[in-house]
Amino acid sequence: MRIRILTLFPEMFEGPFKASIVGRAAERGLVEITVHNVRDYAHDRHRTVDDTPYGGGPGMVMMAQPLFEAVEDLVARELSQAGERPKVILTTPQGRLLDQGMVREFTSHKALIIVCGHYEGVDERFIKSCVDHEVSIGDYVLTGGELPAMVLVDALARLVPGVLGDAASATRESFGPGLDGLLQGPVYTRPAEFRGMKPPDVLFSGDHAKVTEWRRKTAVDRTGQRRPDLLKGWPST
Ligand code: ADE
Repeated sequence: MRIRILTLFPEMFEGPFKASIVGRAAERGLVEITVHNVRDYAHDRHRTVDDTPYGGGPGMVMMAQPLFEAVEDLVARELSQAGERPKVILTTPQGRLLDQGMVREFTSHKALIIVCGHYEGVDERFIKSCVDHEVSIGDYVLTGGELPAMVLVDALARLVPGVLGDAASATRESFGPGLDGLLQGPVYTRPAEFRGMKPPDVLFSGDHAKVTEWRRKTAVDRTGQRRPDLLKGWPST
């Protein structure tokens, strides 16, 4: 999977994408991540990328021209490299709320361009013409779309085959297909007793069917307590 990120703050991505599992995945060639500066596509010598909103009001709006040209350039590069048109995602608090289903859907594309929104917003003409999906990571407003882009890239990368050490952990976890979109229940590791606390006996029984049943039950209980909304329509079959 190839991910191209378009941002006003390329430096922000240096740390998170070098260290971490995402960084290792990139090093191993499992995902290719490149970061591009919107300012490189500005035309004036001040490299202007924003302007005041028509109609007045506070803040600045990201101009259509640099974003248009940047996306056109990145799409052209992708087409010459792979021949498939990448999907363009904009991170914005006005977007559809990101969930694991959307992440899974996005992994069906060979290439993505993620545009990090900023300031008071992005000129609507760019969104209408160039953006396929507007994505929000939650009902709160951040200073920019860079952290949401990192969240999305992280969620995507760990679904790429080979990125996670234990392939099963991507399916057994919360929201994964293995538990039908439920929250994961409690997990334990050594020592068997810690400050007087012991994991449930079933985990030491060696009976895989019982352990699976216990995991399913604790997942359902936890989901019911913490996220009853996820139980609506469950089980799907
Ligand atoms: N930009 C600012 N806040 C955001 C959010 N919650 N999700 C996506 N992009 C954003």
